[in-house]
Amino acid sequence: MDERIVTTREIDDDGILDNSIRPETIDEYIGQKDVKENIKVFVEAAKKRNESLDHVLLYGPPGLGKTTLAYIIANELGTNIKTASGPSIEKSGDLAAILSTLEKGDVLFIDEIHRMPRYIEEILYPAMEDFTLDIIIGSEGNTRNIKIDLPPFTLVGATTRAGDLSAPLRDRFGIISKLQYYTVEELTEIIKRTSRVLDIEIEDNAAVELASRSRGTPRIANRLFKRVRDFAIVEDKKCIDKEVVDKALSRLKVDEIGLDETDHELLLAIINKFNGGPVGVEAVASAIGEEVTTIEDVYEPYLLQTGLLKRTTRGRVATEKAYEVLKIEYKK
Ligand SMILES: Nc1ncnc2c1ncn2[C@@H]1O[C@H](COP(=O)(O)OP(=O)(O)O)[C@@H](O)[C@H]1O
Ligand SMILES: [Mg+2]
Repeated sequence: MDERIVTTREIDDDGILDNSIRPETIDEYIGQKDVKENIKVFVEAAKKRNESLDHVLLYGPPGLGKTTLAYIIANELGTNIKTASGPSIEKSGDLAAILSTLEKGDVLFIDEIHRMPRYIEEILYPAMEDFTLDIIIGSEGNTRNIKIDLPPFTLVGATTRAGDLSAPLRDRFGIISKLQYYTVEELTEIIKRTSRVLDIEIEDNAAVELASRSRGTPRIANRLFKRVRDFAIVEDKKCIDKEVVDKALSRLKVDEIGLDETDHELLLAIINKFNGGPVGVEAVASAIGEEVTTIEDVYEPYLLQTGLLKRTTRGRVATEKAYEVLKIEYKK
């Protein structure tokens, strides 16, 4: 079993993708007001013009609803969705194979699109721009270029790091949307929805407590919800109350503001080993035994957002607020 409750894996503890709690229509998708409003307009316009929707790039930290939104877009367009992930497309033939299955108006969802090899990107440019596929066939000494027409389709790309995308690729997306961390109110709504879907009640103040300890992230809120539900079931409670939430989260070592053990380790390393910073992210990574990219994509965004961490030109700095949260005396 995965020990980390804030893991951003999409696979459930039972080893299956949890689709039952995933919203299917744009109106069921909670929060992200601006992104949602825009997508609604663009989808409706595309349908009225009977054209494919412009290519969409969704970016933001893991668990905020990028994959969910890609499926919703296809659903709202009334088209099929074909999915692939950046690292799994290794050869030009892999991409050609996927592209050749597309039907008019379909959505092609490429997750982690920043991890696609650069020469694959280059095949994607004419496919995105003119709906043509330029490929080289044959083998050494006897090759030729062929051009294949593709039906108009919509590429939906998702990435945790928009900055890692090459400029020419980024420029080919007509719609670029950044997903934001969710407010406690929005997460409360998501938790109540999950409670209805999973058919176990939760008291209002318990839902708010859980929401405020979910790092602004629906995936974490839902994962915590399931673990809290386990505690409630074992204690024969018909309804999840605040007492169960507190108990479960303290067992899971999730603190009052939703930080987990790794967040604590990270801040403590900066404070204790590097005198509060500034320190380079590589040094922090090796001090706590995590990958640099995991720190940058998963941990830092939330710590930066909540003002516990600062990024300076000379490295990461733990803020006075971080000392407060960790109950360590702050010395300038
Ligand atoms: N806006 C939302 N409203 C309700 N539930 C959401 C929303 N966004 C995400 N979720 C829930 O969080 C889970 C993780 O979302 P996902 O789309 O997989 O995130 P990402 O692809 O950005 O990592 C989904 O399974 C879904 O249940
Ligand atoms: Mg995803």
